[in-house]
Amino acid sequence: MKTLENKIILVTGASSGIGEATARLLADQGATLVLGARRTEKLQLIADELQAKGAKVVFKALDVTQKESVNAFVAYAQQTFGRVDVLINNAGVMPLSPMSALKVDEWDKMIDVNIRGVLHGIAAVLPIMEAQASGHLINVASIGAHMVMPTGAVYCATKYAVWAISDGLRQESKNLRVTTICPGVVETELGTDITDPTAAGALKEFRKISLTADAIARGILYALQQPEDVDVNEIIIRPTASAF
Ligand SMILES: NC(=O)c1ccc[n+]([C@@H]2O[C@H](COP(=O)([O-])OP(=O)(O)OC[C@H]3O[C@@H](n4cnc5c(N)ncnc54)[C@H](OP(=O)(O)O)[C@@H]3O)[C@@H](O)[C@H]2O)c1
Repeated sequence: MKTLENKIILVTGASSGIGEATARLLADQGATLVLGARRTEKLQLIADELQAKGAKVVFKALDVTQKESVNAFVAYAQQTFGRVDVLINNAGVMPLSPMSALKVDEWDKMIDVNIRGVLHGIAAVLPIMEAQASGHLINVASIGAHMVMPTGAVYCATKYAVWAISDGLRQESKNLRVTTICPGVVETELGTDITDPTAAGALKEFRKISLTADAIARGILYALQQPEDVDVNEIIIRPTASAF
């Protein structure tokens, strides 16, 4: 049985990793998908492949750091399908470094994508979901929303922020479901923008024990499949063998 038939689901950062795996799994469950990211050539390939299997998938160029871009992404979904049932705020970046390296531009980038991007998404869908009196926001945070490690101070700060924003929104919402997803280490393209050699080496070591992105997609699917009056607030998903 396809459990997400008739659900209009928007996914940010759908061009690789967890976003792509989630799009593939939700398409299998009959969801209507609107995919967003900057690399539209990758989105085109994913959409073509899923459409060929009969899925309803469209995509649009999206830069979550730009409020207008996020508004246009959500407006496109609303105009095309008439409603927005779910927004998965998944886009994120992780250029890790020790604070002493003073990579202030990279700190700003993480704040812009990981925090402002999520806030832009929430602001764009809230009026629509409140008018519908239903909706589901799924924010991808991290185990970095629960613990801090060297080289991860700013990244973890952005994920603590996502956790706080999600929980505050949840408490204020009577009609909307809010879920925070906290993945442990997952093998994806995340971290390819690391410029600090120590941090790059540490990540390589971490990834020796990692999940594949579909494990996180299954967690997202679980939250989506619950009845409307059940809000799965948070899921933490780690590799069994990992302490982190
Ligand atoms: N991998 C892990 O171990 C792990 C662990 C915990 C949490 N997470 C979180 O999981 C989420 C997904 O990451 P991932 O691991 O799947 O990494 P990924 O493969 O690098 O995917 C990141 C996605 O974000 C998109 N993105 C980056 N900047 C963007 C922007 N300005 N506007 C729109 N999209 C943007 C990228 O697309 P474009 O480059 O095409 O824009 C890409 O699709 C992130 O929030 C990450 O922090 C990952």
